[in-house]
Amino acid sequence: MKILLASSEAAPYIKTGGLGDVAAALPKALAESPNTEVAVFLPYYKAIKDNPEFELEYITNFNVPLSWRSVYAGLFRAVSKRKKLQYYFIDNEYYFYRDGCYGHYDDGERFAFFSKAILEALQHLNWYPDVIHANDWQTAMVPVFLRAHYMHLLSYQPIRTLFTIHNMEYQGRFPDSFVDEVLGLPEDWKGTMHFDTCTNLMKAAILVSDRVSTVSKTYAFEIQNPYFAHGLHDVLRQHSYKLCGVVNGIDTDVFNPATDPLLYANFDAETLEKKAENKKFLQERLGLAVREDVPMVIMITRLVGHKGVDLVQRVMDDLMWDDLQLVVIGTGEWQYEEMFRSYAGRFPAKMSANIVFDNTLAHQAYAGADLVLMPSKQEPCGLTQLIGMRYGTIPIVRETGGLFDTVPAYNIETGEGNGFTFKSYNAHDMLDAVRRGESLFHDKEHWVQLQKSVMAYDSSWKRSVQEYWDLYRSMME
Ligand code: GLC
Repeated sequence: MKILLASSEAAPYIKTGGLGDVAAALPKALAESPNTEVAVFLPYYKAIKDNPEFELEYITNFNVPLSWRSVYAGLFRAVSKRKKLQYYFIDNEYYFYRDGCYGHYDDGERFAFFSKAILEALQHLNWYPDVIHANDWQTAMVPVFLRAHYMHLLSYQPIRTLFTIHNMEYQGRFPDSFVDEVLGLPEDWKGTMHFDTCTNLMKAAILVSDRVSTVSKTYAFEIQNPYFAHGLHDVLRQHSYKLCGVVNGIDTDVFNPATDPLLYANFDAETLEKKAENKKFLQERLGLAVREDVPMVIMITRLVGHKGVDLVQRVMDDLMWDDLQLVVIGTGEWQYEEMFRSYAGRFPAKMSANIVFDNTLAHQAYAGADLVLMPSKQEPCGLTQLIGMRYGTIPIVRETGGLFDTVPAYNIETGEGNGFTFKSYNAHDMLDAVRRGESLFHDKEHWVQLQKSVMAYDSSWKRSVQEYWDLYRSMME
């Protein structure tokens, strides 16, 4: 089977969040199956072009019709011997030779161009996938353009489309004039594109794609309700017959405490005493009190409201009253950055605020910490809890989305479960879950049992890839 994965980011080329990890690991895992070809399409961003590590070869160029425009597109490919997994890059310096991936005034036009260029590229490569798997609003136009502009071409007719939602919050909303002015869609597409006073690319992709998926089963259910759907609950409910959830995995080669080159000391479930060396190293590196007997809680997250940082803020004084250490790594809203900095100033021995995006420090924190806190208001899947578990760091999570699916509540009687959980979006419920974690930390026998059991949790892509294959196949029937 031939799969085309369209994404606005994929590691190692470009990554700003979880989508970048998924769009790297999923195609890699898919390509391991026999009789498959996988092609990943990315924009040829400045950060990729300027990075000498990446060796790309020029393939061809063509013009992309975009409403009244006819826009140059260069097609490049990563030099690779693995024929089964190819990375293609769409070049246009006007659109993509800029700093950062997102946040430009013309993002809608940039990604509409990217989406159309992917479809145009197929005829130049003479390679037609069985399934196009598009991700989030940036590539939501691929299934739409396919239906609107390419169905008269025989080679495009059999192509099926899957649209995956990684986050409902970002839907690609633009003024209605966008349909004529940028997309150049026929008049009878206006109803499909329009939602609630504007053009909404995610809504259109939900309507026209053969299947819609999201990144956990619980989130697939949640987004049919107004609290989670950012307006699209009715649209999703109407299309629930083609909606499903497939939970993300992580790249277990990259996130492997036994081999991770970024760690101070490598370890596995049988050598947990080495995990303590990582804790000591981290405490020294961050200027915290060097103590083995204090539970260390980490938060590795964007510092924004929906990640639950407001809950933490509400009970910061209580947390600082406890005998624990809190390490925060991430950037985001100014008010939260300042809040953590100020607590770190007042409690230097127990609080460390690292207002940075630092991959090495993140790996060292996963390895050194005891608990990882994710009190998200919404979490489509979440990867941090999966990585934490792999490093024997116990998650504390709110029961939502992928957190609910991957971190069942720990039960001391049976030894089942993966972490400490709370249900309501409430700061004191969260505090209670943190305190349950702190207290189990001091019960060494049960603690080590739990560490070993979360380290054995299967967060690889194996199972999920099987679900994607079933999904792809079901679309072709
Ligand atoms: C988004 C979601 C996150 C998910 C990731 C990858 O970043 O917020 O929960 O893990 O996409 O699917």
